[in-house]
Amino acid sequence: PVGLLSDRLGRPLRDLRISVTDRCNFRCSYCMPKEVFDKHYDFLPHSALLSFEEITRLARIFVAHGVRKIRLTGGEPLLRKDIERLVAMLAELRTPDGAPLDLTLTTNGSLLARKAQALKNAGLQRVTVSLDALDDAVFQRMNDVGFPVADVLRGIEAAERAGLGPLKVNMVVKRGTNDQEIVPMAAHFRGTPVILRFIEYMDVGTSNGWRMDEVLPSAEVIARLSQHWPLEEIEPNYTGETAERWRYADGAGEIGVISSVTQAFCRDCNRARLSTEGKLFLCLFASRGHDLRALLRGGYSDEQIAAAIGLVWGEREDRYSELRAARQASDAGERRVEMHYIGG
Ligand code: GTP
Ligand code: 5AD
Ligand code: SF4
Ligand code: SF4
Repeated sequence: PVGLLSDRLGRPLRDLRISVTDRCNFRCSYCMPKEVFDKHYDFLPHSALLSFEEITRLARIFVAHGVRKIRLTGGEPLLRKDIERLVAMLAELRTPDGAPLDLTLTTNGSLLARKAQALKNAGLQRVTVSLDALDDAVFQRMNDVGFPVADVLRGIEAAERAGLGPLKVNMVVKRGTNDQEIVPMAAHFRGTPVILRFIEYMDVGTSNGWRMDEVLPSAEVIARLSQHWPLEEIEPNYTGETAERWRYADGAGEIGVISSVTQAFCRDCNRARLSTEGKLFLCLFASRGHDLRALLRGGYSDEQIAAAIGLVWGEREDRYSELRAARQASDAGERRVEMHYIGG
């Protein structure tokens, strides 16, 4: 009985990203630098996490509000115990016209070889794997736990075999750290169904010591690749897509660039984020979330929770990336939510 939502900038709510754990077995320098996320760091206690039943109850309410895609994130979502049980519960949800949701997951790939088939059997449709380099020395420096490239590649193959494709692979590009890997990564995935996407290094959170001079603009990624293989831009799959899509002129497949820094895409941003402890965030760069867990555990009805979500979305005017330059000066002291907590 709820109408479709629209925020202050006229944007609907379509995409829900659910973080299922704030923990990760990697320590990527741009997300969970070791100096901050060491053995003294306090991760959330189990009692703080939403249960699978709580997540599914909220997801059902979000679907009634117009959500059509659910992406599970972390930290590393495959570290959450019995994650395939949650996938199975979410796979049963239907849109008002009876269609299943687009149900997907973003993972670092480390546990994928072991879990791909179970995830597929539970009803997961596809996965996106993060991989920042093909060279082991570069990759291990970036994940900072010595995790080898070959194991991620094995995870990707297992996911393809299990029918979780066509896969997307996300590569965060840091100038001076892994930009020499752009061409080798493209060469590796060219001619396969994998869609490789290059992500501009973003100023998420306040721990990663972000500097503009480490951002390699997507335009430069495209320029470098074009020297090897001519590229043609293609139309977005859907309104508000994060990636700009390109294809190799010779038919060897598709790549994407995600340019949150040099070409913000807030205008059509229809994404909401649910944190591991049940806070609703309206932007990846928000400082505060809205506590839905308090409503879940406070005896509120579905209708009341739906109304609360509707009010929050109706007030939304976040567009951080568009305002980035001006914001940084004025909000210098504000602590923004961390990537490992909100899941990207
Ligand atoms: P598709 O459904 O395959 O299009 O996935 P997606 O691009 O929506 O999700 P994914 O988890 O693969 O995100 C890719 C990159 O884009 C990650 O680095 C995210 O942090 C970033 N990203 C996703 N959504 C947003 C957003 O709303 N704003 C910004 N600034 N970055 C985003
Ligand atoms: N900038 C850009 N992308 C990031 N990710 C994590 N931290 C950052 C950052 N600072 C990416 C991960 C993953 C996705 C969910 O977000 O590599 O692909
Ligand atoms: Fe873990 Fe992903 Fe963050 Fe790397 S980017 S530390 S894999 S959550
Ligand atoms: Fe959406 Fe915020 Fe990202 Fe802009 S910066 S696209 S509003 S999440």
